[in-house]
Amino acid sequence: MKQIQVGIIGFGTVGSGLAQTLYEQKDRLRRKVGTDVILTQVADIMTDSLPEQFSGVKLTKDAKDLFTNPDIDIVVELIGGMEPARTFMLEAIKHGKHVVTANKALLSVHGREIFEAAVANNVEVGFEASVGGGIPVIKSLKEGLVANRINSIMGIMNGTANYILTRMTDHGVPFNEVLKDAQELGFAEADPTYDVEGIDTAHKLAILMTIAYGKHVHLDDINTEGITNIKPIDIDFAKEFGCRIKLLAISRNHGEHVEARVHPTMVPDSHMLASINGAYNAIHFNGDTVGNVLFYGLGAGMMPTGSAVAADVVDIGRNILCNSVNRVPALSYLPENIGTPKITDMSELTCPYYFRITALDKPGVLATIAGIFSKHDISIKSVIQKSRHEHDAVSIVFLSHVANEAAVQESIAEIDSLEMCTKPTVKIRILTEDE
Ligand code: HSE
Repeated sequence: MKQIQVGIIGFGTVGSGLAQTLYEQKDRLRRKVGTDVILTQVADIMTDSLPEQFSGVKLTKDAKDLFTNPDIDIVVELIGGMEPARTFMLEAIKHGKHVVTANKALLSVHGREIFEAAVANNVEVGFEASVGGGIPVIKSLKEGLVANRINSIMGIMNGTANYILTRMTDHGVPFNEVLKDAQELGFAEADPTYDVEGIDTAHKLAILMTIAYGKHVHLDDINTEGITNIKPIDIDFAKEFGCRIKLLAISRNHGEHVEARVHPTMVPDSHMLASINGAYNAIHFNGDTVGNVLFYGLGAGMMPTGSAVAADVVDIGRNILCNSVNRVPALSYLPENIGTPKITDMSELTCPYYFRITALDKPGVLATIAGIFSKHDISIKSVIQKSRHEHDAVSIVFLSHVANEAAVQESIAEIDSLEMCTKPTVKIRILTEDE
């Protein structure tokens, strides 16, 4: 029987993880697929030799060698970033190769071009590893949840940010020190700005929204805020209110328009997402048929990500063997049925809020601030003032009932312009227990 032959571009952490997975699972995969799924060639500009177990695998520095190798069925792009990854994907597709990638940054920006090229060339695009690392969330959304209108997507999709917030919460370790640990543990992005500024999470949300709603969602559609403004004091206050701060990706489907946002969120301890700690990811969907579904697992790392890439390779391999290429459309919806999204304006958002205001401890301060909130129709649920002196200023924390984002922005602008307020106000949106 025909073997399924794979070429890898980029022999870094995930590339080695895939090679190792195909090697270690060779017999099991043969029993499941009915033929060998083998690594045939690797292209990597930094690698001069492959580990001993891959002695039969060809090594090149030129990715083009994979596109023109007639034996290779599937080209796996694992170099990350925009270029030359985009060109390599498009070239491989033009040469009739099926492609697999873990590159969420690329798909959230150039996905449309890549998926359209794949359709035009009748090849498959696998991208399971682009969201949630080892968690089979994309296949589940495309296939397992196919008979659902997805009402909402909510999740913790960046292990580095979750690891940082967990260590800050549970061990009081400062931000920079934890970030260094995450980099050493190997799950932070090459540029950790993407992790801590929410950009990596936004890449992933754009991909999930595209599949969930059948609309090409672009990175620029996602309203993104990171965790760099979260201070230990906010984490302590959150604990006092029975919450943990998490970097959440949230999308609610309002029919005509869909929410698309990534931001730090205060999550009540009783909520499932509050217990997702360390480098773990969790992705929650609400579907109209199925109800609530939660996926949990390691969202990064050599072997979990290798597992997801290998799953795509096997899926495509099986389709090749059964002459059923593109049996499942890459984005679940048929290409001709995929539209353009209308994103809910952030000003329309409503939720409860946490505000930490830094102000001088003088008579009338509380009344002035409360008056501003009241003027903007923001109802206060509780107030705490701690005598944690930063020169003459104190932190005053307000929790609001459900309020409107536009009113919140206007209030903050007004509060921050007061002479008595010495630092910009920190606001964190709060998740309600029933969300
Ligand atoms: N840097 C990412 C994370 C890796 O920390 O989750 C997986 O996308």
